[in-house]
Amino acid sequence: MKHNSLKLLLWLSVGSFLLLTCCESDDSYSASYAHDIEPIFSTRCIPCHLSESGNSGNLNLSSYASLMAGNSNNGTVVVPGDADNSLLYEAVSKPPEEQSILITRMPQGGEPLSPVSVQLIEDWINEGAKDN
Ligand code: HEC
Repeated sequence: MKHNSLKLLLWLSVGSFLLLTCCESDDSYSASYAHDIEPIFSTRCIPCHLSESGNSGNLNLSSYASLMAGNSNNGTVVVPGDADNSLLYEAVSKPPEEQSILITRMPQGGEPLSPVSVQLIEDWINEGAKDN
C-alpha cells in the first residue's frame, strides 16, 4: 500500500512537471508583429502600401489595424491561423504564375522577400496573426 502511494506521488509530480513545461510555451511565439512583421513592411512594402490611396490594391500596411481592416480591393488579406488562405502570404510566397488574384509577386517589381521573412509571415499568421 505504502509502495503504491509513493508510485502515485511520483507519477503526479512527473505529470505536473510535464504539464508545466509543455504549457509554458502557450504565450511564446516564433514570430511577433512588432519585432518581425512590421520591419519587413516598413523596409519592403511601405513605399507603395502607405495608405488606402487607390493604387496598390488599397492595402495600407502602415499599422496592424490597417493591415487587419479587411478593406483592401480583395477584402481580408490575413486569415488568422490560416496562412495558406491569406492573400498576404500568397502575395509574397508564390511566383506570378501561381498567384490566384495578383499578377505579380510582392514586393511588386522588387526582389522577392528572403525565405526567412516569408517564413516569419507564415508563422505569424498561423500563430493567430496577433498584435504581439
Ligand atoms: C512598387 C510598389 C509595391 C511594393 C513595394 C509592394 N506592393 Fe503590394 N501591391 C502593389 C500594387 C500596385 C498592388 C495592386 C496590384 C493588383 O491589384 O494586381 C499591390 C497589391 C498587394 C496585395 C493585394 C491587396 C488586395 O487586396 O488586392 C497584397 C497582399 C500586397 N500587395 C502585399 C505586399 C507586401 C506584403 C509587400 C511587401 C513585401 C508589397 N505588397 C510591396 C504595389 C506594391
